[in-house]
Amino acid sequence: MTDASEQTANQMWGGRFASGPDAIMEAINASIGFDRRLARQDIEGSRAHAAMLAATGILSDSDVAAIREGLLTVLSEIEAGSFEFSTALEDIHMNVEARLKALIGEPAGRLHTARSRNDQVATDFRLWVREQCDAAVSGLQALQRALLAQAAAGADWVMPGFTHLQTAQPVTWGHHMMAYVEMLGRDAGRFADARARMNECPLGAAALAGTSFPIDRHMTAAALGFDRPMANSLDAVSDRDFALEFLAAASICAMHLSRLAEELVIWSSAQFRFVVLSDRFSTGSSIMPQKKNPDAAELIRAKIGRVVGANVALLTVMKGLPLAYSKDMQEDKEQVFDAADTLMLALAAMTGMVSDMNANRPALEAAAASGFSTATDLADWLVRALGLPFREAHHVTGSLVAMAEAHGCDLPDLSLEQMQSVHAGITAEVFGVLGVYNSVSSRTSFGGTAPDQVRARIADWADRLA
Ligand code: ARG
Repeated sequence: MTDASEQTANQMWGGRFASGPDAIMEAINASIGFDRRLARQDIEGSRAHAAMLAATGILSDSDVAAIREGLLTVLSEIEAGSFEFSTALEDIHMNVEARLKALIGEPAGRLHTARSRNDQVATDFRLWVREQCDAAVSGLQALQRALLAQAAAGADWVMPGFTHLQTAQPVTWGHHMMAYVEMLGRDAGRFADARARMNECPLGAAALAGTSFPIDRHMTAAALGFDRPMANSLDAVSDRDFALEFLAAASICAMHLSRLAEELVIWSSAQFRFVVLSDRFSTGSSIMPQKKNPDAAELIRAKIGRVVGANVALLTVMKGLPLAYSKDMQEDKEQVFDAADTLMLALAAMTGMVSDMNANRPALEAAAASGFSTATDLADWLVRALGLPFREAHHVTGSLVAMAEAHGCDLPDLSLEQMQSVHAGITAEVFGVLGVYNSVSSRTSFGGTAPDQVRARIADWADRLA
């Protein structure tokens, strides 16, 4: 990139300026350091704009042919890495146009007819964020497939279900995996909703008021894959709500990833041993030879900070801005770029970790049976078999738990006599409900943890993801 501050006035807008900008002015003003990521979208938008200028007779066919061809050359130079970006030319829009001028001469100066950088950048950025919505949905589906495979492999494996991270009731491994499949499905829905709402084209709003040239905004909107042109030119150049919706969806998604990451950190510890993470997604310690650390999970747990930070930063940039465009809005891009990069990386890393991890069935099963996890099943049995009111059943069960705790055993290890000393009506039938497999297979309500329910949900999702 050339950094030299031009001594002469800016060639794009410097008509009324006697001198070039101060070096510090150039440094704070330039966005080419980051908005070069919009190059492809910028050129796509310009080619659509040029085609429309020819179709409406605003420019000659020969000028537009030269412009459209020249823009492809610029794109190939950028993609090949041979393009010389210039800070003096501020941003991607002027860098591309200046290069076009060098390549094709005079017709390049006609491209900006009936257009402003304000509608240009709004269009470029919408195209970019729209692609990221699609990428997020694909990334989410890949992770859902990995979770689905885990769920299918262990649809009927038992593990402790927790509330307050205390053993609550036994659940199935498949059920736990499928909980995340549901969450990620809603995340994908949020990105799809945001995409549908943002799919209107700002191009042709010009600086803020529209244009006196007989442009066809429907034509450019269709050429760029938008559903329609935006209906108000002031709104078109001045809102970034589409980027904020993307960041909001990304924040919620990053929160879900962070929760799953936290579970993997806990589960892979020596105290839990619920899962073994693959070497490919773990790291070692330079001092403790035995260590295998879940760094990828820890980093995913933390990455949400950047995503939510971007969301807050852009909301803060936009807050209180009068209509229409203000240069403040140039601060939109870096936040969204970083959040999108962060989210895609976190999704890819989580997908790798989940695909590779091995659930430790014996450890899950042993843990499922500990912590009096079937106490609710016992209370329910007292209600069903003996007709006790649930509150009384709850109390009787509590006494049995206390007795087992005092004897250092689990509920199924108590003898019938011990149980009858708490409630005389208890029969040997009770032992049938104290096992963890019995417990999970009894939870057959829709959405419950019974293996048949879990398999049905897996089948639903396998169809939806096919
Ligand atoms: N680089 C600018 C941005 O990102 C492009 C729009 C500039 N428009 C203007 N009127 N100065 O917002």
